[in-house]
Amino acid sequence: MVQNDLSGKTLPPPQHIAIIMDGNGRWAKLRGKPRTAGHAAGAEAFRRIANYCRTLGVKYLTVYAFSTENWKRSQEEVSGIMTLLARYLNEALRDMEKNAVTFRFFGDLSKLSPALQKLCRDAEERSSQYHEVQVNFCLNYGGRDEIVRAARAFAQDVADGKRCPEELTEQMLSGYLYSAGVPDPELIIRPSGEQRTSNFLLWQSAYSEYVFMNVLWPDFTERDLDAAIEEYHRRNRRFGGT
Ligand code: IPE
Ligand code: IPE
Ligand code: MG
Repeated sequence: MVQNDLSGKTLPPPQHIAIIMDGNGRWAKLRGKPRTAGHAAGAEAFRRIANYCRTLGVKYLTVYAFSTENWKRSQEEVSGIMTLLARYLNEALRDMEKNAVTFRFFGDLSKLSPALQKLCRDAEERSSQYHEVQVNFCLNYGGRDEIVRAARAFAQDVADGKRCPEELTEQMLSGYLYSAGVPDPELIIRPSGEQRTSNFLLWQSAYSEYVFMNVLWPDFTERDLDAAIEEYHRRNRRFGGT
């Protein structure tokens, strides 16, 4: 839904929305189903919301799909999630032209199976020609891990004589993150009722508006996204000013 301010002026949607896709397990439990059924329903919600973001004209959608901590789950659940991811990416590759979505992956993909790594690379390569909406898929992603890697890469450039420590700025460090070149999200949504970041976009969220919602991710609809964007428009972003 296009949103207007009090004088009827159209409010642009945030350029970059990020979502912690949480609550799949509880959704399944409520229905007496295995957790994997919750993840399958969560994948459907993702499709719905990614499409809707394109309709709204959102430029970047960053979704938290699997964290560096999620390996702690049962092997059955982890492999169920990986199977669903592979299925999703195969379908995305098949429908690439129709959807015209650009894919990027944030996270340490080297821990994924070679087949899944290849699907990620193919999706990234084959979708780079589109410029409508970019989906950043966070897979084996951790905000701290991302910052450690950036620090390491910068230190390596210093050791190689390409950089000197004094020239490091916030902007330069941003360029070493998975999200290099992507503007920070204005809005981060966490469904499921939890109110924490769980290691998501620690650097990029410095001035993001958080909207926590009670809906479980598989039940998340276009109207929920409208409600989150409405809430975002009500916020007064000061960035440390008055
Ligand atoms: C989010 O849903 C999906 C992943 C973390 C992979 P959960 O599986 O965390 O669902 P809850 O929090 O247990 O309900
Ligand atoms: C965060 O959810 C990770 C993803 C949604 C992929 P979790 O369910 O893993 O987070 P915690 O354990 O509740 O903090
Ligand atoms: Mg959870």
